[in-house]
Amino acid sequence: MKMAMEYSKKVMDHFMNPRNVGEIEDADGVGEVGNAKCGDIMKMYLKIENGLIKDIKFKTFGCGSAIATSSMATEMVKGKPISEAIKLTNAAVVEALDGLPKVKVHCSVLAEQAIKAALCDYYRRQGVDPEPILGKIPPTESCHIHD
Ligand code: FES
Repeated sequence: MKMAMEYSKKVMDHFMNPRNVGEIEDADGVGEVGNAKCGDIMKMYLKIENGLIKDIKFKTFGCGSAIATSSMATEMVKGKPISEAIKLTNAAVVEALDGLPKVKVHCSVLAEQAIKAALCDYYRRQGVDPEPILGKIPPTESCHIHD
């Protein structure tokens, strides 16, 4: 029998008690990303005021690592300026969780991309071209414009 994967206490905590789960009805930006291989989907909602991430919520239909990384990522950018959210990397989220098993690192990429996608949506709603600010977001992960 295969050994169970080793997850850190922090990963287990954020998986069992994820922070900032839900949606923001009057969000200023909404982003949805997915991983085509595993089929997992993550959706991020942002409330932005004066350049600050006033509130952030997420919904993840996916594995435990995706839930734990989205929870940690939201905690890391909540209350912070947009510029810091842009700089948030999946590696920083993994580090904050005391690591992830190697085969699960790709799950943390969803968290980074979901925040970028939500920011992309935010900029588009403001009539600002997001590409020079956020870089190129691959088409499948491009921001989802909600009407
Ligand atoms: Fe799909 Fe983790 S296995 S995001």
